[in-house]
Amino acid sequence: MSFDDFHKANDAKLLEEVSQICSSFEVNAEQLKEMTSYFIQQMEIGLANNNNNEGTINGNKAGLAMIPSYVTSKPNGTEEGLFMAAVLGGMNFRICSVQLNGDHTFDIKQAKTRIPDYLMEGTDATSDDLFGFLARRTSAFINKFHSDIMKPDTPLKLGFTFSYPVDQESLNSGTLIRWTKGLNIPDTVGKDVVQLYQEQLTIVGLNMVNVVALTNDTIGTFLSLCYAQGITTDGQVSGEISEPVIGCIFGTGTNGCYMEKIENIKKLPDYIRERLIHEGKTEMCINIEWGSFDNDNLVLPTTKYDIDIDKKYARNGGQLFEKRVSGMFLGEILRNVLVDLHSKGLILTQFRKHDQLPHRLKTPFQLSSEVLARIEIDDSSTLRETELSFLQSLRLPTTLAERKAIQSLVRVISRRSAYLASVPISAILIKTNALNKKYHGEVTVGYDGSIIELYPGFKSMMRQALAMGPIGPEGERKTHFVHSKDSGSAGGALCALVA
Ligand code: BGC
Repeated sequence: MSFDDFHKANDAKLLEEVSQICSSFEVNAEQLKEMTSYFIQQMEIGLANNNNNEGTINGNKAGLAMIPSYVTSKPNGTEEGLFMAAVLGGMNFRICSVQLNGDHTFDIKQAKTRIPDYLMEGTDATSDDLFGFLARRTSAFINKFHSDIMKPDTPLKLGFTFSYPVDQESLNSGTLIRWTKGLNIPDTVGKDVVQLYQEQLTIVGLNMVNVVALTNDTIGTFLSLCYAQGITTDGQVSGEISEPVIGCIFGTGTNGCYMEKIENIKKLPDYIRERLIHEGKTEMCINIEWGSFDNDNLVLPTTKYDIDIDKKYARNGGQLFEKRVSGMFLGEILRNVLVDLHSKGLILTQFRKHDQLPHRLKTPFQLSSEVLARIEIDDSSTLRETELSFLQSLRLPTTLAERKAIQSLVRVISRRSAYLASVPISAILIKTNALNKKYHGEVTVGYDGSIIELYPGFKSMMRQALAMGPIGPEGERKTHFVHSKDSGSAGGALCALVA
C-alpha cells in the first residue's frame, strides 16, 4: 500500500469511528421529555426530603437538593443603598461594593482575583487558609476604594455569594454540604462558611464589615434580574414586563433556582414554615443544585467517555448532569475522546504511544471550552482556526481529516450540553405552571455564566431543545432569556439589603 493509500484508508476509518461516537452523543425529543418528567419528580422528592445527601451516588432516593434559601421576596428595582458583596466562584473571587440606585440600575466597584492554585483541588490547604485569603482581598479592596466609609460605628453590610451547595437554616448562615468544581478543602465541609469568613475578617481588622447574608450564585442571578427587570438594552424601562421565573448559571458549573410556594416546601421545619406564614410570606427561592440531577444515571444520555469521567472525578458528589453540561467538562470530554481515538491508532498517529502525546493532551482539564468555542465556529475550508487553536493550546499539529473529525466531535458535545440545559428550564416552567399565568404566560429566565453567555450558538441550541421538549414551540416562544449582568455582586448586595 502506498503512503497516500495508507492515509486515505486511515482517514476513512477515523471518519467511520467518529460518526459512531457522534451518534452516541445525540439527544432526541423523546429523551428530553423523559428527562423533564424525571426532573420534576426529583424536584418533588427533594422538596419533601429533609436530607441533603443528594451528593452521593444512589442519591436519587433523596431527590434533588432543593435547598431553601430564606429569600422570601423579589426586589422590584426601587431598592437603594451601598452594600458590599463577596463572590466566590469556580475559579475567581470577586469583592465589590454595589450602589443600588433605586431605579433598576446600580453602580459597582470591584476587584477580581484568580483563586491561587495552592487553595484549589489536591492541596492540603485549610479553611483558615482559604477564608484568610478572602479576608485579605476584602481588606485590600476596602483600603483602596472605601477607606472613607470605614468607621467603627457604621457597620457595612456584606452579602456573600457562594457558588457551592450549602445547607441553610437562615439567611446569614449555611454549612457547606460539599465542594464542587475546582475547590476541595476537606475541612470546610460541614462548617458554617459565613462564620469562617467573618472570623477571618475580624482577624484582618474588618470588624465593621458584617456578613449578613449568604446566597447561592443562581439566587444572585435571579435577584438581580428582578431588580433590573423592565430595563431594555438602551437603559429604558420597558412597558411590557414578563414574569422573572428562573435564575440559572451555565458556566464552570451549572445550577438554577426559582420561587416555590412555602406550603410546598414540606422539608422546612414546622416552626419555620409557621413563622414565615405568620409573617405573611408565601414563597421562597429554592436553590435546586441541578448539577447533581440523576446521580444514579437512570435517564441521562451516557457515553463511555462520560462513564470514565464520572468515575475519575467522582469525588465531587457525582454531579453527573454538571459533567455533561458545564464549561468545566466540555473540553475534558473532547480530550477523553481524542485520547481514545489515539489509542486505537486513528488520530495523531505521529505520536506512537500515549506517553509521547503532548503533555497538555494527557493532562486532565487542559483543553478549555474557549478552544472548543473557536473550533465550533470555524467555517474556513481548511479549518484554519481549528489548526491554530490546537497548535496554540496543545502544541499539536493536525491534518485536515483530523480537524474535520475534531470539529464534528466539538459540535455534538456542545449540542448535547445545550439540549440537556433545556431540561431543568422546561421542568420548572411546567412545575410552576408559569406559562399559563399572568402577562399572557410570558416568562423571563435570568442567566449568567461563560457558556451560556459566550459559547457560540449555545442559547439557540438550548431554545431549539426547549421547542422539541414538552413545552413545545409555543412554550419556547413565551420564554425570554435575559443576561443578568454582574449577577453575583448585585445579587449579593440585594441579599444584604433584605437581611
Ligand atoms: C455548584 C452550585 C453553583 C453552580 C454554578 C455548581 O458546581 O454546586 O452551587 O450554583 O456550580 O456556579
